[in-house]
Amino acid sequence: MKKLNLISAAFFFSALAAFSGQKPESLSVCDFQQNPLGMNLEPLTFSWKLPESPRPIYQSAYRIVVATNAQALEKFPDVWDSGKVKSNQNLHIPYGGRKVLSTEKLLWKVMFWDDADNASEWSQTNSLEAGLTDMSEWKNADWIKTSVGKIFINDRMMPCIFRKEFSVEKKIAKARLYIASRGIFEAHLNGKKIGDEFWGTGWTDYKKRVQSNTYDVTNMLNDGANALGLTLADGWFSGSMTWGNKECFYGKRPEIIAVLIITFADGSVKKINTDNTWKNAKSAILAADIYDGEAYDARLEENILGWDKTGFDDSKWLNADVANRQIAEAKGESLIEPRRNTPIRTIQTLKPISVKNPKSGVYIFDFGQNLVGSINMALKAPRNTVLKIRYAEMLNDDGSLYTENYRTADSTDYYIFKGESLEKWTPSFTYHGFRYVEFSGLPDESDVDENSLTALVWHNDMKQIGKFSTSNNLINKLQSNIIWGQKGNFFSTPTDCPQRDERLGWTGDAQVFAPTAAFNFDVSAFFRKWTLDLRDAQRPNGSFPSLAPAVAGGDGGPAWADAGVIVPWVNYLAYGDKNFLSENYEAMKLFIAYMKKDSTDYIRRDLGYGDWLQPYAENPRNTDTPRDLIATAYFAYSAKLTSKIALILDKKEDAKYFEDLSKNVAEAFTKKFVDENCIVGKDSQTAYLLALAFDLLPEEKRQQALDNLIKAIEKAGGHLRTGFVGTPLLANVLTRFGKSQEAYKLLLKESYPSWIFSINQGATTMWERWNSYSKKDGFGSAGMNSFNHYAYGAIGQWMYEKIGGFETSQAAPAYKETIFAPELGGGFTSASAQLESPYGLIKSEWKIQDKIFVWNITIAPNTSGKIVFPTDSVKNISAGNMSIQEWASKHNLLIDVCKSSGRIVLKNVPNSKYEFKVKLN
Ligand code: BGC
Repeated sequence: MKKLNLISAAFFFSALAAFSGQKPESLSVCDFQQNPLGMNLEPLTFSWKLPESPRPIYQSAYRIVVATNAQALEKFPDVWDSGKVKSNQNLHIPYGGRKVLSTEKLLWKVMFWDDADNASEWSQTNSLEAGLTDMSEWKNADWIKTSVGKIFINDRMMPCIFRKEFSVEKKIAKARLYIASRGIFEAHLNGKKIGDEFWGTGWTDYKKRVQSNTYDVTNMLNDGANALGLTLADGWFSGSMTWGNKECFYGKRPEIIAVLIITFADGSVKKINTDNTWKNAKSAILAADIYDGEAYDARLEENILGWDKTGFDDSKWLNADVANRQIAEAKGESLIEPRRNTPIRTIQTLKPISVKNPKSGVYIFDFGQNLVGSINMALKAPRNTVLKIRYAEMLNDDGSLYTENYRTADSTDYYIFKGESLEKWTPSFTYHGFRYVEFSGLPDESDVDENSLTALVWHNDMKQIGKFSTSNNLINKLQSNIIWGQKGNFFSTPTDCPQRDERLGWTGDAQVFAPTAAFNFDVSAFFRKWTLDLRDAQRPNGSFPSLAPAVAGGDGGPAWADAGVIVPWVNYLAYGDKNFLSENYEAMKLFIAYMKKDSTDYIRRDLGYGDWLQPYAENPRNTDTPRDLIATAYFAYSAKLTSKIALILDKKEDAKYFEDLSKNVAEAFTKKFVDENCIVGKDSQTAYLLALAFDLLPEEKRQQALDNLIKAIEKAGGHLRTGFVGTPLLANVLTRFGKSQEAYKLLLKESYPSWIFSINQGATTMWERWNSYSKKDGFGSAGMNSFNHYAYGAIGQWMYEKIGGFETSQAAPAYKETIFAPELGGGFTSASAQLESPYGLIKSEWKIQDKIFVWNITIAPNTSGKIVFPTDSVKNISAGNMSIQEWASKHNLLIDVCKSSGRIVLKNVPNSKYEFKVKLN
């Protein structure tokens, strides 16, 4: 800190000039929500960014004020005034005021003082508005469900529509609609869809909790008569679920509950609640299912024309059924809580790159990209024409759709034309993973072209914060495939795949991909919700399951169950919110206690999925790395992380306990699985990777284990032999132990198994298997052959950190201190990695020209950097026209040398933009 003060003193005068007029920016609450409406505010925290400034900028204090109205905010904040708080933190500052009331809207602003105690101006005013958190309000409404229609499959009902008319007699000040559903819905008011979201309030363990959405409908209401309409479908609640053809996992008929609160200008309030006076009827949707698709009969629209508008004659409609409140209460009714994750929206649209007409009436559209979501079709056809819409990720050799890998998921939509002018339709209550779409059933010579179909890319609305590119186009394609893998599988839960009869929150996949996910997109809200799903899914014995929400499977086993510790940790590192740790801490402790109990002399049992999908495994089910070895390694690792977490939460005794436990497990691991020649397990790559990555070996054995790992790679012809467990560790371990060139060789390997192999076979997303398809041998076994599985995309973290060249320091998370240390190699001549971090933009961009490494670095406001140059000699480094020595002394920085690598290091580099040049030998 002293050094920082010195630095700032040097910049004092110019900084002062730059400071005036500056103010905090990008105000947000909780998980970086700007002006949230109805998002979960528990616990409420405040964040902001310091403005970019031509000089380094640091915060020494802040003041936050919160008020119920603009006037109070200016003069006398009536809710909370933090006062001037000395702190260099501008992230996740805990709110210290009274409870935020249900539906309440508050205003807030913030100012800061820099490290010379200059006060900034006040920020702009932001708002936050609570959802309906008062359960008694929800209890005044009823959960309603369909009372009409026929059972279409097994015990399931057709999707249906509900309606209610009401009148507005006075001038409106504001109106909010609060909705929660067990099932998925679309809400309409006076003929228009409310909001731009799909998939209702998402998927949670509906037996325990349901999320609610809040909509501002003030401007959608009419004076006088109004009509509310709801469409409700099965979704995850009662739709198909898992590979076992299960249905109705949570219940037979989906349910919905809504509360419309209209506040009039005179202060009075009117409420419209769902109850048995709501009418319901069949809609034009014949069937809708998550896996199987949607069927829509546009001819039926005429029966319900204007159903969501006033004046519609619903006298023949039946009253909705109402869930029995007493039974629900006796069963311990599930909580309704404002949503934690952002909703699913159409994030992007794509036009086809080609349309083929292989047979009369059949058309195949190619979007050029495997994607997830839905479509919008726009076509004309005679009345009664039944359009069949099929989807596929790949084509067979003869150009037909390859759909075997969807397994039992039909993934087929139907549309029956009413036969008017252009008809447009989007199946909204199903979703598909596809690159190709086939239309069939159309009359000869239909007017079908690129304009007949648009693909809608759906996922939870997350801001893309990371960008990565290099001089190597294959690696750029890999990055693009990783991004698309993430887009396709961040769908309410982190899913394994988006297309077959699965699409489930597999914990292992999410755990290994989380660090990469956190680079590409802001996933904090997404994982805030999913870590709660994980806690809801924790088993009574303390183990975490393989799936969250837990709709199948038991104990997740090693690398899967450990998501309960690792995912909160990854999010804490990426976004800096300690609540990620405290919220999950008790669950972590239970989990570690379970593992201890489930072990004999610290060795865990043979359980779990092994090094899932390891190529060339002798025993594909158990793979080449013994499962008790993987389980024991992960036990040690999770205990160690829990120890670190305990320390951060200031629980010193716990920290010591978990640290000792982790050491004991590591010792037992070495004793049981490592022989005198340091062969770990059965000499598999993954066994060495686990031992090295998780620090399980005594210091003196590490080098030998590393040598054995390198030999194991050589024995495999320079290929990886790793599955879901080993692959994410591979490049990280090699770099950590000074073998980045080996990591580059693996990364750039083109033959099977490798990352580039799939790219050379035409991949546009990450595949489940290294050889899900090859030009030579065709498709892998359809039993498990997803073309959109993000797990192997876990290499993305290494690409950002080691090729691009920056990572957060663990001691100062969320990039409060960024370590810039690219590993050159692989023939790359340039790379650019950037991240809109919680503190602001961080960038490492380099190119090599005539053996000179030209490096541009941006360090975010209120943070500092540690710069590790790719050279061991100060003579090679310059900054502008200065030698690095001159430059460092001008900036009051000391030049250091990294003990292990011999590289030149600058520590505590103030935030700013820099350009360095390094002569390469
Ligand atoms: C899923 C995986 C998952 C695995 C566990 C598969 O069916 O698709 O990605 O991790 O099962 O064994």
